[in-house]
Amino acid sequence: MFATRSLLLLSLIALVLGKPMARNMKLHESREGIPNGFSLRGAAQPDRTLKLRLALVQRNLAELERKLMDVSTPSSANYGKHLSKAEVQQLVSPTQDSVDTVNTWLKENDINAKTISATGDWLSFEVPVRKANDLFDADFSVYIHDETGAEAVRTLSYSIPAELQGHLDLVHPTVTFPNPRGLPPVFTAPIKAEAQNLTSRATIPSSCASIITPACLQAIYNIPSTRAIESSNKLAVTGYIEQYANKADLKTFLAKFRTDISSSTSFTLQTLDGGSNPQGSNQAGVEANLDIQYTVGVATGVSVYFISVGEDVQDGGLEGFLDTVNYVSSMDTPPNVMTTSYGQDESTMSPKLANNLCNAYARLGTQGVSILFASGDGGVSGSQSQSCSTFVPTFPSGCPFLTSVGATQGVNPESAAYFSSGGFSNYFGIPSYQSSAVSGYKQALGNTNSGKYNTTGRGFPDIATQGVNFEIAVGGRFGTVDGTSCSSPTLASIISLLNDRLIAAGRSPLGFLNPFLYSSGQSALNDITSGSNPGCGTNGFPAKAGWDPVTGLGTPDFNKLLKAVGL
Ligand SMILES: *[C@@H]1O[C@H](CO)[C@@H](O)[C@H](O)[C@H]1NC(C)=O
Ligand SMILES: *[C@@H]1O[C@H](CO)[C@@H](O)[C@H](O)[C@H]1NC(C)=O
Repeated sequence: MFATRSLLLLSLIALVLGKPMARNMKLHESREGIPNGFSLRGAAQPDRTLKLRLALVQRNLAELERKLMDVSTPSSANYGKHLSKAEVQQLVSPTQDSVDTVNTWLKENDINAKTISATGDWLSFEVPVRKANDLFDADFSVYIHDETGAEAVRTLSYSIPAELQGHLDLVHPTVTFPNPRGLPPVFTAPIKAEAQNLTSRATIPSSCASIITPACLQAIYNIPSTRAIESSNKLAVTGYIEQYANKADLKTFLAKFRTDISSSTSFTLQTLDGGSNPQGSNQAGVEANLDIQYTVGVATGVSVYFISVGEDVQDGGLEGFLDTVNYVSSMDTPPNVMTTSYGQDESTMSPKLANNLCNAYARLGTQGVSILFASGDGGVSGSQSQSCSTFVPTFPSGCPFLTSVGATQGVNPESAAYFSSGGFSNYFGIPSYQSSAVSGYKQALGNTNSGKYNTTGRGFPDIATQGVNFEIAVGGRFGTVDGTSCSSPTLASIISLLNDRLIAAGRSPLGFLNPFLYSSGQSALNDITSGSNPGCGTNGFPAKAGWDPVTGLGTPDFNKLLKAVGL
């Protein structure tokens, strides 16, 4: 009775104010409770400005996936026939109906939005919290990350008008929280060796068993030291969270470890979202220096680009990932390889946002870009070590349309690094290219870890390289770092050198690697069968013969890879 009467009263008021009487709102996304590590501080100030982004529903995602596999599978007649930017845009850009429907709704609500992607699938606008709550039946509140004190304005659920269903994919940031360990976390330990002064050469370790250098990687993986020759062959390294790549350090590094090439060999800077690359020696980032030194210093002669993504985005991180894919997919000639050593726990993401980003990586794959991500450094406990009762998959490694890179250590035998994140996604199913590899592993594993991981999820990583005791220069001094952060740039260098040979032979670059790695490429990899990735109070997953969720299919051998691609 009471409810009916107040509804009536509300409708009357609405009539008086000339507003639409009853909006038909549909719950669009929600999360169960506040994620671990955050607390609610209270309601967000009604007049606080929110920067929101809308993603429109993309078309033809099944066809996009079919095309991605078609151009990336060696046995396919269309192998290597990558799509142009225009072809991909035409395939996936939202329908005019979606664009019109969303724009009409924006106009009705007096919102000025700007398009922020080449395919027109992302829009951004600013509104006060009051209006955002009203538009989306949301409850934008201030959440505090307990460990760091970082603030995030989020809502645990939101709705959209029924007429936008099927047109509006998601609103961000809403139910996706920033990564509890900073956004995104850096998959690397701080320089841990007692830093050596440049001049104290006597103390520089020489053995690859204890220190990894470019010469070690060349020896372990048969990587050539001869120069790549194809000027079109580009390798992109992404940088976030004010990680700057220092040129003087690169020179110092090359002068010590690559006496066979000019120590002035450098990289090209690209920036977005107000990114920059200041060169003060105290501004040098461990992660950025690592990534640049092990690409410029290993992919001899390949053009390396450092994409520095700035902080002009609310909460950095994921929006940086979104802006990076939009930026790279708008290039007429995107890089052939892109390596990223940042990521976060999958559970911090909304499934819709995870899917949206994953499809963006599929788009780049159809254009022939090899997308590489470090798998994370927390073993089965996620991006970084943490307490947990079930295993924590990382993002974007769980996305089946990119290559996730784990870490190994030691030379004889080469075994899994204990921190190498791996496991099974809770958001993405098992892609066909890895179904037999994954089922073979589960059979060998038996009941170990049962109930701790998702038996129908995409398994990761796909491949691994060395990731322990990499010597780098930071601020003019040498030290070592560990992490899958070491592994992803190393693989990027190897793939770039292979691409150089392919392009020189009139062939296409490798593009999305996984269908190749899990078929004709597997014989070119060293199977890693010892070590494991403990976490969540368990021993984690053991490395075993064939694919495993610690080292993937194993580590690369350049000479064998040349044969596997038919060179
Ligand atoms: C490095 O050089 C600094 C200053 O020149 C000196 O104080 C320090 O002891 C040196 N460290 C090592 C490990 O030689
Ligand atoms: C397991 O993964 C599948 C995707 O393959 C997903 O649909 C399902 O919800 C996941 N289960 C859990 C408990 O997260």
